Amino acid sequence: FLHKLVLGIETSCDDTAAAVVDETGNVLGEAIHSQTEVHLKTGGIVPPVAQQLHRENIQRIVQEALSTSKVSPSELSAIATTVKPGLALSLGVGLSFSLQLVDQLKKPFIPIHHMEAHALTIRLLNKVEFPFLVLLISGGHCLLALVRGVSDFLLLGKSLDIAPGDMLDKVARRLSLVKHPECSTMSGGKAIEHLAKQGHKLHFDFKPPMQRAKNCDFSFTGLQHVIDKIITQKEKEEGIQKGQILSSAAHIAAAVQHTTACHIAKRTHRAILFCKQRDLLPQSKAVLVVSGGVASNLYIRKALEIVTNATQCTLLCPPPRLCTDNGIMIA
Ligand code: KG4
Ligand code: ZN
Repeated sequence: FLHKLVLGIETSCDDTAAAVVDETGNVLGEAIHSQTEVHLKTGGIVPPVAQQLHRENIQRIVQEALSTSKVSPSELSAIATTVKPGLALSLGVGLSFSLQLVDQLKKPFIPIHHMEAHALTIRLLNKVEFPFLVLLISGGHCLLALVRGVSDFLLLGKSLDIAPGDMLDKVARRLSLVKHPECSTMSGGKAIEHLAKQGHKLHFDFKPPMQRAKNCDFSFTGLQHVIDKIITQKEKEEGIQKGQILSSAAHIAAAVQHTTACHIAKRTHRAILFCKQRDLLPQSKAVLVVSGGVASNLYIRKALEIVTNATQCTLLCPPPRLCTDNGIMIA
């Protein structure tokens, strides 16, 4: 008996990723090329640069996923590729590569919605019953949704402006953390988490956004601007130039992480209560799945744990390599 084998290809943002997964969820092989280092240098993703890097790497990454899985292209049952949402130039590389492969190999093509893939990834690892709640928090995503089936989603809330990872990246850039000896190779969010351990979260008192909004939406630009102002003020006080590391950087990191965690936890709490009141989620042992790059932040996870403990929910997070963009979730 031969299992069906699916090749998954992901290029929606700044990771070129591929994987081969069988129908029982076994990961046979995977490969990923991250562009993070290049984009750190330019202070953000420049779409044509991302496109070029996807072009340079996709062939090798798909090859590597196939060869580590010891699967020959002809043995594949289908090719699955992210088609939306994402950066158009990045998505295009994966899509045209896949369509070429589909044409060559005469295999079925499965178009994949990137957010749905994130939301469903947990099912590779845990037997999670529908319906469950999902919180996606990353550099490009911020949403709360009720997952009622493989392609049955109810959007409960989303960011009205930028995603939390984007905000953390902007704050990290403003603090010049790439020049910090301990964080130079980390993403903005990871650098903030690292530095926050050396600071005090209540040193600055940033207000969590949208405290009165009676919905499950998010907002992060207000907080970002408040922090920007504080940094400018501190730079004056400490008499340092833009681009140098502030002595209060760790306190700022701790406070922004704390405020972000509070905001995310409060909005999630509202979503859980909303669903339970309307019997959209089971009253006990409802599941909250948290995924996306920001979900690897342990401080934010702890804040979410407080919410799930208080509401008799179970908190599940895929391991970091499945939380961030990857080919496995697409396959
Ligand atoms: O899921 P992901 O790899 O890519 C997408 O945005 O789709 O997430 C990357 C984002 C970046 O904004 C990065 O700063 C953030 O996740 N991130 C973190 C941590 N690790 C990565 N944010 C907070 N704490 C972390 N430990
Ligand atoms: Zn993603």
